[in-house]
Amino acid sequence: MLEFHSLLNLLFMKPFFLFALTLVLSACHQPVDNTQLLQSRLDSLEAKLADSYKPGFGEFMGSIQVHHNKLWFAGQNENWKLADFEVHELMEAIENIRKYQAERKESRMIGMMTPSLDSVNAAIRSENVTFFNRSYKSLTSACNECHRATEFEFNVVTIPEDPPFSNQDFKTRGNR
Ligand code: HEC
Repeated sequence: MLEFHSLLNLLFMKPFFLFALTLVLSACHQPVDNTQLLQSRLDSLEAKLADSYKPGFGEFMGSIQVHHNKLWFAGQNENWKLADFEVHELMEAIENIRKYQAERKESRMIGMMTPSLDSVNAAIRSENVTFFNRSYKSLTSACNECHRATEFEFNVVTIPEDPPFSNQDFKTRGNR
């Protein structure tokens, strides 16, 4: 019985021990390999990040210009759902400037839009054209105030006369 046991030990336990030892040794080795692997992955990620596309300040402004325009026609047509959508697109673009253009000194001034945006939002909620028009004018003044403060005064924002695109209907379904 005892002999049989030591035979078992020899046959199974020794290979198992060797296997376990190999595992432990390879685990000890891993940190070195992993660090090199991680470093090379980090390097390639950094290279990808440096090459990745990030919209510029002017591109965000181009989008702001379109939503500022559409917002006006939505309000004039008392299409409050569309007006709400447009003002939120405008606010999203402003948030994106804060996030993606944080290093530009002009971005520090973006908060000056908040009071007039709050007012436009309140006008949309109350579905009141007179209140909307007043708020929209103060929003437009805030655009120009920042353009002057950032020496971009030659770009003058106005109350639009025509919608930006001919393929969009600003009326609500009932008014078409
Ligand atoms: C935080 C300051 C700031 C505010 C607020 C601001 N702008 Fe600008 N805007 C700028 C700066 C700076 C530029 C120049 C961007 C560049 O370097 O390309 C610019 C550029 C523009 C351009 C030119 C982009 C082009 O492609 O021709 C338009 C149009 C524009 N803004 C519209 C607006 C409108 C509409 C508003 C308000 C709803 C507004 N801006 C609010 C700072 C501001």
